[in-house]
Amino acid sequence: MDAIRIVGGAQLNGTIPISGAKNAALPLMIASLLTDEELILENLPRLRDVQQLQQILSNHGVSYMIEGKRPGMDSMDGQIVRLQAREIIDTRAPYDLVSKMRASFWVIGPLLARMKECRVSLPGGCAIGTRPVDFFIDGLKALGAEIDIERGYAVASAPEGLKGAEYEFSKVSVGATHTLMMAATLAKGTTVLKNSAREPEVTDLANCLIAMGANISGAGTDTITIEGVEKLHGARHSVLPDRIETGTYAMAVAMTGGDVLLKGARADLLQAALDVLEQTGTGIEVTNEGIRVSRNGSALKAVDVTTDPFPGFPTDLQAQFMALMTRAEGTSTITETIFENRFMHVQELARLGASISLDGQKAHVEGGSELKGAQVMATDLRASVSLVIAGLVAEGETKVNRVYHLDRGFERLEDKLTACGATIERISA
Ligand code: UD1
Repeated sequence: MDAIRIVGGAQLNGTIPISGAKNAALPLMIASLLTDEELILENLPRLRDVQQLQQILSNHGVSYMIEGKRPGMDSMDGQIVRLQAREIIDTRAPYDLVSKMRASFWVIGPLLARMKECRVSLPGGCAIGTRPVDFFIDGLKALGAEIDIERGYAVASAPEGLKGAEYEFSKVSVGATHTLMMAATLAKGTTVLKNSAREPEVTDLANCLIAMGANISGAGTDTITIEGVEKLHGARHSVLPDRIETGTYAMAVAMTGGDVLLKGARADLLQAALDVLEQTGTGIEVTNEGIRVSRNGSALKAVDVTTDPFPGFPTDLQAQFMALMTRAEGTSTITETIFENRFMHVQELARLGASISLDGQKAHVEGGSELKGAQVMATDLRASVSLVIAGLVAEGETKVNRVYHLDRGFERLEDKLTACGATIERISA
């Protein structure tokens, strides 16, 4: 199995191109199930999760064609992919596919809306908490579906088709918002989704669905209204830049020092995280080309953060920020409010010399630790990259095992960091 080997100590200087957002790409690909016409997605990142979802979709009958390179495109540009679900040939999503990626459960919305029945395995996914699917089930039931859980599968049907309704999420859920919004596009009548997720990826999906002929208003606010339509058609849509990749590299530069342009990044997608970075003493400058991040010589200040749904500080940057705070002056408290078990990186950061104590959903990070390279391993995607960030300043060699987690969500991480002066390579462990 591959590992990432890092020798710490180098500053980062140069340009890092930001890829299309994984968390937008996945629901956008799933939206292809809603129409028999072609959905063309531009700026799709090259990631294991995207490949995995492609497999799941092809099992339902979605054809998937990657367009060739065009003049002027370089190897870091996103892919252009044509997806077409001319006919849904299988409404089952089996365990061996769905268990590899939680987001694949979201096919339940479009399959039910278009085919009036489906059988979708309950998901597996990241080891960061129990992550139930009750909002999906309750929300689809509110739209008139009958759903039973049988032997690990959600068996859903709506013989008369889905019907518009009002549904209020008891807690903000990105995936359940995506799923119910997709399902409601083809329901009869009006659906109002209250306490919806306001994440930029929800707005990106809504924009794509609107381009496909859906009637949606309010995406990006907590109340989304969808007037059902008879049919959706093909469209062309470009995936928005990845705000988590942006924030991750911004934290890497804050950690090592240096000056890097995050090309194509959009500050409005992660303002809360950029504000926190500025408070640490990191320079943030928004330019026409993206976001420039710099830290030259100044010490890092400790800052407390609490994760929250958008527009708050994202839980997907919590682990990376914790790595950064191990080197700050003073103690910072990091509070996780979205997932109950998202501190798996703490003991691995400790192996590198970090001093962090846990108190329920709070982590107290004592700054100023001298990190020293070691072998580490992580159990989820964002945790793995926090170890890479720590490795960039740790003295000597750090080996991050189980690198497949990184490949799920970071396109060519080692190439992007090497280009800015880091000593990082992929090795066969
Ligand atoms: C998405 C993101 C993930 C991010 C998370 C929160 C993708 C592919 N993944 O995950 O990177 O960390 O949003 O920003 O976009 N919950 C329930 N019942 C449900 C659904 C969710 O209790 O039916 C709970 C979860 O356990 C969690 C909270 O709601 O505590 C938020 O989860 P949710 O927003 O649904 O996360 P995902 O959509 O899975």
